[in-house]
Amino acid sequence: SGALRPRLAFVGCGYLGSTYAACFAELGYEVVGMDVSVEKVAKLSQGVLPFHEPGLEALLKRNIDSGRLRFTTSVEEIAEFADVHFICVGTPQRPDSDGADLSYVEAAVTELAPHLSRKALIVGKSTVPVGTATWVEELVARHAPPEAGIEVAWSPEFLQEGFAVEDVLRPNRVVFGVNSDWARGMLYAVHKGVFELAAAEDRQVPVVACDFATAELVKVAANAFLATKISFINAMADLCDTTGGDVTLLARAIGYDDRIGPKFLRAGVGFGGGCLPKDIRAFVARAEELGVGDSLRFLGEVDRINARRRTKVVTMAAEMCGRVSGPAGPDLSGLKIALLGVTFKANSDDVRDSPALSVARKLMRAGAVVTAYDPEGMATAKDVVPDVIYAKNIPEAVEGADLVCVLTAWEEFRHTDPAALTGLVDHARVIDGTNSLDPVLWTGAGWKYRGMGRPAHG
Ligand code: UGA
Repeated sequence: SGALRPRLAFVGCGYLGSTYAACFAELGYEVVGMDVSVEKVAKLSQGVLPFHEPGLEALLKRNIDSGRLRFTTSVEEIAEFADVHFICVGTPQRPDSDGADLSYVEAAVTELAPHLSRKALIVGKSTVPVGTATWVEELVARHAPPEAGIEVAWSPEFLQEGFAVEDVLRPNRVVFGVNSDWARGMLYAVHKGVFELAAAEDRQVPVVACDFATAELVKVAANAFLATKISFINAMADLCDTTGGDVTLLARAIGYDDRIGPKFLRAGVGFGGGCLPKDIRAFVARAEELGVGDSLRFLGEVDRINARRRTKVVTMAAEMCGRVSGPAGPDLSGLKIALLGVTFKANSDDVRDSPALSVARKLMRAGAVVTAYDPEGMATAKDVVPDVIYAKNIPEAVEGADLVCVLTAWEEFRHTDPAALTGLVDHARVIDGTNSLDPVLWTGAGWKYRGMGRPAHG
């Protein structure tokens, strides 16, 4: 019966694990989420999500109430309970290098394995360097009772923050990295609910069944491609800036070619977050270890183009405010600059590697006083950059400002009436770091508008 309706455990209840646990419970599976943090488990057990993700908390509450979902700190409990154990722990960048830190994966596997007393599948979901699945198999061979016959598979995830529930319930593909028929069958059984939902909605979810290395590479290749797309369009924005072109129209025009596609061509302050930046660096580091560093050297350039976006906002700020740049960069002392948006993107409270906070630091280093408002990210941002003055709302943030910088594409900013802000600021100047505002609307309300790779307005 295990193969028909497998019971699932998710090891690591951070962003990834808690989203998957709640979504699979929603699909009808019996699920236990396990985490070493007593505090996190207590919160999740009460139906409280420790981060912002649209739609997820309702799903969490509903499935806890239904009895299909619970959380624990006990590895013994999940070892006893589950047929399939998903490893969802973090793989952060190492402090001393660009490589990935696999110590959480190692701890999760070596702590779980000795308690597994019957046939079960361990499925890696964390983003890892190619070769990790084989290493996990070796760890399992060393730490699990041999008679249990524990197997390993790799099934990367592609969820985007802000759309995580949809991405898990309605994935555009699933990837099964396996080396046995049993493991492949088990992964099909685990995803039965996903396939049934798709069928009911007249969709199909493509499955790519492959070896370990391919499965591991798919994940980093996808993120590397997305990062490359963004840096490509940002490089085009530089060309537009020097020639008077408009990168938003350029992106639209090339995006109509369906070989290129319209998505991930929004020029702006560049990519951030817990995934894209660290994943491309770890990918480059791994390629170098494998002796094929040359093949990924271009990703270093993708990273550098991205880093320059953040400096560019500071240079633009100086230009707009009539400040000259010395050898040490621009002097922004005495200026009050308001930032709208602190998270790494809209619809998230995540500030990891946030371009907005990086800009905030650079502005303050150049002498500016920085105020900020964000619909969801204030609490997380305060911990990381405490010397910004955090405001309760947009008007409070822009009050008396010499310059306003919009750094994430929250709907709230796009729907703000610029005319209502003109009277509050000292100088009606705006840098649209997301190219999401309407320049005509803002200049009509008396603002000087500058986007990223668009002609100046006003
Ligand atoms: C990314 C991938 O999109 C997911 O498929 C993947 O599963 C995830 O990483 C992961 O590895 O876990 P996420 O980090 O949530 O998801 O964010 P994205 O929506 O991809 O945005 C990344 C960054 O690129 C953001 O800073 C965003 O503002 C920026 N971006 C995105 C642009 O600058 N321009 C665009 O056109 C699109």
